[in-house]
Amino acid sequence: MLDFGGQYSQLIARRVREARVYSELVSHRATAAEIRGRNPAALILSGGPASVYAAGAPHCDPAIFELGIPTLGICYGMQLMALELGGRVDRTESGEFGKTQLRAGDSALFNDLPLDQTVWMSHRDSVVAPPAGARVVAQSGSTPIGAFEDSARGLYGIQFHCEVVHTTHGQEVLKNFLYGIAGVAPSWTPAAVIEEQLERIRARVGRDRVLCGLSGGVDSAVAALLVHKAVGDQLTCVFVDHGLLRKDEAAQVVETFGGHFGVPLVHVQAQQRFLAKLEGITDPETKRKKIGEEFIRVFEDEARRLGDVHWLVQGTLYSDVIESGGENGLAEAIKSHHNVGGLPADMKMKLVEPLRMLFKDEVRRVGEELGMPERMVWRQPFPGPGLAIRIIGEVTEERLETLRGADAILQEEIRKAGLYRELWQSFAVLPAIRSVGVQGDSRTYGYPIAIRAVTSDDAMTADWARLPYDLVELVASRIVNEIPAVNRVVLDVTSKPPATIEWE
Ligand code: XMP
Repeated sequence: MLDFGGQYSQLIARRVREARVYSELVSHRATAAEIRGRNPAALILSGGPASVYAAGAPHCDPAIFELGIPTLGICYGMQLMALELGGRVDRTESGEFGKTQLRAGDSALFNDLPLDQTVWMSHRDSVVAPPAGARVVAQSGSTPIGAFEDSARGLYGIQFHCEVVHTTHGQEVLKNFLYGIAGVAPSWTPAAVIEEQLERIRARVGRDRVLCGLSGGVDSAVAALLVHKAVGDQLTCVFVDHGLLRKDEAAQVVETFGGHFGVPLVHVQAQQRFLAKLEGITDPETKRKKIGEEFIRVFEDEARRLGDVHWLVQGTLYSDVIESGGENGLAEAIKSHHNVGGLPADMKMKLVEPLRMLFKDEVRRVGEELGMPERMVWRQPFPGPGLAIRIIGEVTEERLETLRGADAILQEEIRKAGLYRELWQSFAVLPAIRSVGVQGDSRTYGYPIAIRAVTSDDAMTADWARLPYDLVELVASRIVNEIPAVNRVVLDVTSKPPATIEWE
């Protein structure tokens, strides 16, 4: 897929993968020769925020339309196709935004779909004359050219966003293009991904030894299982237990990897080392720094102890690859890549990155296919510094216990209510204040617990979750009854921005 910078670019690639077709994002600057070199079965031109006539607006190599590859332009991509192929694009008075009724005509794009359908529009410019040789195959109230096709050349354009959920039949339109028009088979399944990765990993590491740091999160877990399936006991996993995980999580890692899957596992009990480093520290950034430094130190010690290891597994995802400039530097650099596992940059090991071509949801599906427990596969994101950044003020063993207990109650009730997967994150926070309460006949002076639950797609923005009041009440009463140090529960009703998801 050629990326023109639209907000939905990654989403299109994900939707294509959901249709079980492998897709890659490349920059719109890719030349026709580069694209031919990749031998794609189909091409998609994404939407984008610019106007095709604007100075500096992104264009593509017009020779790509001569490659004979079935091509679908979406929104900006459609307008650019029209422009490059002899059609015309104009600015309209008001544009068209949001849900719109589309009248579809006779086209392979709309095969087996109702003629009238709801689509999502977001454009100011419109195609006013289709490319030479193309015919108009859909229209809406204010957009006479909602879609065009030149089936002889395999060129298709749609003004609406088939990739967003508000387009009722969007995924079917995409499938019609992929399967019906481009003739691609839906063969990108978790089993196929696993087979391909196993071969790649074996070819890369040969008979060398491999090291993998486990964090308890789904990415490092799936990466480790893939590598173990590929090269067996050449892999050693190191799980640095910093004592800042949630209740039972460390035990689960040890049981799942060391026990169930039989992966060689070094469980480093470093809880006391981390607590000692955190003593007296209250500043959030200092906490993060101390934890990061100590983590690297412990990990390096273990790596040294293991001796001759040449490879390090990292759970880099495709979204990290895209955001850091992409394969072969083809995609635009959006933000600089952060060191995914938080591991030392100067380690003299080469990287194995078995998730490099996968989106997060694909990682989860691969995890399920590998037989990973549901709890691990669907775990909500959890920060590397763990509970330390959910305890405001000093992190002590006693305060960790308090937070861990309250958090476990929240998790349990959220799971029971069937809301766990719907929420991006849900957790308890322990502030550094105390307040007065009354329990039985006596007054108490205890800690509050804050409940934080958010919905989000990518953690860049987040909305506070409207948890049912009955659930909030149940959680609050259980926490104050079961956790002696706590006498009050509050609910965080702030979105991001202006707040962040975490409290520190
Ligand atoms: P904020 O609090 O900035 O968090 O809205 C955005 C997302 O990032 C996670 N987060 C971290 N993850 N190390 C991590 O691995 C960290 O230091 C860290 N801080 C925040 C947070 O849980 C949320 O998903």
